[in-house]
Amino acid sequence: MALADFDLVLFGGSGDLSMRKLVPALYHRDRAHDLPSTARIICVGRHEWSRDEFLTALNDNARPHIAQELFDPAFWETFCTRLTYVTLDATNASTYQALVDVMRKDASITRIFYLATPPSLFATICNNLAGCGLATAQSRVVLEKPLGRDLASAKLINEEVGRVFAESQIFRIDHYLGKEPVQNLLALRFGNVLFEPLWRREWISDVQITIAEELGVANRMGYYETAGALRDMLQNHLLQLLCIVAMEPPTCAAPNAVRDEKLKVLRSLKPFTPQTIAQNIVRGQYRAGHVNGMPVPGYRKEAGANPESRTETYVALKAEIDTWRWAGVPFYLRTGKRMADQLAEIVVRFKNIPHSIFAQPNSSFQPNCLVIRLQPDEDLQLNLMAKTPGDGMRLRPVELELDFRETFKMPRMDAYERLLLDVLRGQLTLFMRSDELEAAWAWLEPILDYWEREQDQPVPYAAGTWGPAAASALIGRDGLQWREEA
Ligand code: BG6
Repeated sequence: MALADFDLVLFGGSGDLSMRKLVPALYHRDRAHDLPSTARIICVGRHEWSRDEFLTALNDNARPHIAQELFDPAFWETFCTRLTYVTLDATNASTYQALVDVMRKDASITRIFYLATPPSLFATICNNLAGCGLATAQSRVVLEKPLGRDLASAKLINEEVGRVFAESQIFRIDHYLGKEPVQNLLALRFGNVLFEPLWRREWISDVQITIAEELGVANRMGYYETAGALRDMLQNHLLQLLCIVAMEPPTCAAPNAVRDEKLKVLRSLKPFTPQTIAQNIVRGQYRAGHVNGMPVPGYRKEAGANPESRTETYVALKAEIDTWRWAGVPFYLRTGKRMADQLAEIVVRFKNIPHSIFAQPNSSFQPNCLVIRLQPDEDLQLNLMAKTPGDGMRLRPVELELDFRETFKMPRMDAYERLLLDVLRGQLTLFMRSDELEAAWAWLEPILDYWEREQDQPVPYAAGTWGPAAASALIGRDGLQWREEA
């Protein structure tokens, strides 16, 4: 479907996210001829940049993030003519006139305001957009994380943005939902008959969701120190993945049909108590170590760090979903920085066979396992037992693998590209609704309160490892292992 003409305004337009992700994503889509020829991108920021200074910033900071094979200097020049820079102080209403002046007045042109700014500015920006007449019933607003730091602040964002924009105009972005394998999980679950009958407590033993990063906090210490792994990754990315795995089949792919089902999952998560927090959550912080053979400092020794920081850079927890489908099936979630590998995957482990007809005992059968890998490769792997060729009947584990890139031989589309296209189309399915956001925070609130009240200290782990030993013990207590340990 061809996109309607648009003016896309990037608040935080000179910042890191715009330069590293958003502008390159728009370039890639333009290169694929997805953008209408007259569509425009207006970057907004506080720097008093001339056109030449803006172009230099784009060249220095955005251009290096464009896929090499798609870079064409002539096309880049043309692409840049779509981009305008407007100096604006988001908190000063009188400076918005400069934005009003550059925006087209034709009501058929879709207006999108992308707020890649700290959340403390969301309300002010929305009010100022309303004040200068730019926020109309046809415009859309995109909110980047962090969407709050607890339930109260998330509610406040919802309320304040909701005073200016209707829910159907608000796109709360979680880039993990834009990743190809995540959508493929929907295709796998609801485009085949094979899995759905087995997708329940009778046949699934446990689910593991891991997002491990080799990276540390880079230049984001100011933000990260106030956030930590639970707020930065688990509240959004990991819980959204859990929702996609655990939700009931929606009646169709319409935004509210899918979001209703995700909401039910979030509301069915078993609440934590002080006792289960102590038992079922591990909080870690990295110390000095080696990542990819290179020495790296501990978190407390990173530039700008608080030497006594209690911020967690790792979290693992066991979640349970109180529904007929999932009662008793543990969902283990974990994420960490400075880990042994860069890895994002969902592992669905099925139960073992009930009885072996072969000479081998049941215990020598590896339970079937479905692995949906998001990073570093995008693939799907199904582990089965098969007969070893030759004489005799000995079974051993084999893997059926579907490598998306190999199979479809299509250029990869980054999560931001896909989600930006959805925003431009007005398609809300892959964006969080206000009640989902609040349900996620409501579930995590007792954990945050407990850590604060107890002045909880994260346990140390060496950079370049798979996290604290306590995380292996957490899953080990249930007689299981993290996949890389198995
Ligand atoms: C962001 C977090 O949302 O996701 C970062 O704020 C993290 O801390 C990033 O590094 C990971 O995203 P990806 O797509 O690189 O796995």
